[in-house]
Amino acid sequence: MSKKLRIAVIGTGGIARNCHLPAYANMDNVEVVAVCDILPERVKEIAEKFNIPAHYTDYKDVLNLNNLDAVDICTPNYLHSVIAIEALEKGLHVFCEKPDAMNVEKVEAMKAASEKSGKTLMIMRNNRFLTTSIFLKKYIDDGKMGNIYAGRCGWQRRRGIPGRGGWFTTKELSGGGPLIDLGVHMIDLSIWLMGNPKPVAVTGCTYNKFADSEDISDSKESRFGDRNTNGTFDVEDLAMGFIRFDNGACLQIEFSWASNVEKEKRFVELRGEKAGSIWSSDDDMLKIFTEEYGKTVDYLPNISNKAVKGGHEENLRHFADVVLNGEKPIFEPQQGVDMIKILTAIYESAKTGREVQL
Ligand SMILES: NC(=O)c1ccc[n+]([C@@H]2O[C@H](COP(=O)([O-])OP(=O)(O)OC[C@H]3O[C@@H](n4cnc5c(N)ncnc54)[C@H](O)[C@@H]3O)[C@@H](O)[C@H]2O)c1
Repeated sequence: MSKKLRIAVIGTGGIARNCHLPAYANMDNVEVVAVCDILPERVKEIAEKFNIPAHYTDYKDVLNLNNLDAVDICTPNYLHSVIAIEALEKGLHVFCEKPDAMNVEKVEAMKAASEKSGKTLMIMRNNRFLTTSIFLKKYIDDGKMGNIYAGRCGWQRRRGIPGRGGWFTTKELSGGGPLIDLGVHMIDLSIWLMGNPKPVAVTGCTYNKFADSEDISDSKESRFGDRNTNGTFDVEDLAMGFIRFDNGACLQIEFSWASNVEKEKRFVELRGEKAGSIWSSDDDMLKIFTEEYGKTVDYLPNISNKAVKGGHEENLRHFADVVLNGEKPIFEPQQGVDMIKILTAIYESAKTGREVQL
């Protein structure tokens, strides 16, 4: 068996505790050598719970450890690029939670640092690892849907604001609301399925209508992030938009933490010349719509995402395989640059009321 990947997890909040650390505990080829969090009690408790030999409150101490191959960054968004760049400069491989960075300058600096160091930089794209996503990707890549020329995607929540008043709802710390938080997931999945066309222009609108509303939730997904009753809420709670690509394709988008819709839903709908598809969070739904012998035909693949849950563990396993065994990475840092260009331009369009060229 190949050597183990020695990794440190920085930030031990919701996603580290619920997804990353339990995933590493299942992996034979990864050893978590340290955890780090600015909250001393939290990091100590996590180290004990997951049997991790060392814990720190300053990430710089972690980057100086000499028994380390990689870091896994699970901090609030504003720290992703800061820690990733320092880690890459120290010769460490980097896995980082989404979103890649808060602006284009920072995401480009992350990509440049990875190229300069020759170390792997991978950002979480867990939805690509769902069974339904892998099936659909293969179906499209085999040419069965023909050219994909249009799509719609979104993640709409009726009530599900994460960490209200904390870093999630503070623009300076998060970069934005549901567009940057949830948009990364579904826009990435759509563009990946479409074959990574280059985005060329966007337009969008954002709204903030729930900042002073009751703090109620009907979404288990909104459990992330510490709340602060006297904190800030200066990000959007709904974003709508439209993306154009260099091959003429387009994508409509919609992301909300709170809006008056029927229920929470994640979806990617694609329109190809030979077939269309709906991928949705409803019962792991994947449906394909086509035409045969002069009749319209629906395909319903008998597959389920139960075994892979959110796809986080599979994404982390892939990272370990890329670093240890030279597996071809499914994620390229340029895709992160394109993603952050799209998101920041939608915010700009929402402000100016005009389409923004990328
Ligand atoms: N892929 C997914 O499905 C998914 C789901 C939830 C969150 N996330 C992402 O994961 C990241 C963390 O989100 P979360 O929900 O766990 O947030 P969280 O607030 O629960 O956890 C963040 C942790 O980072 C710690 N921290 C803050 N500053 C630090 C520093 N300088 N050094 C070390 N630790 C520091 C905080 O004390 C906290 O414990 C975010 O970027 C978020 O977008 C991804």
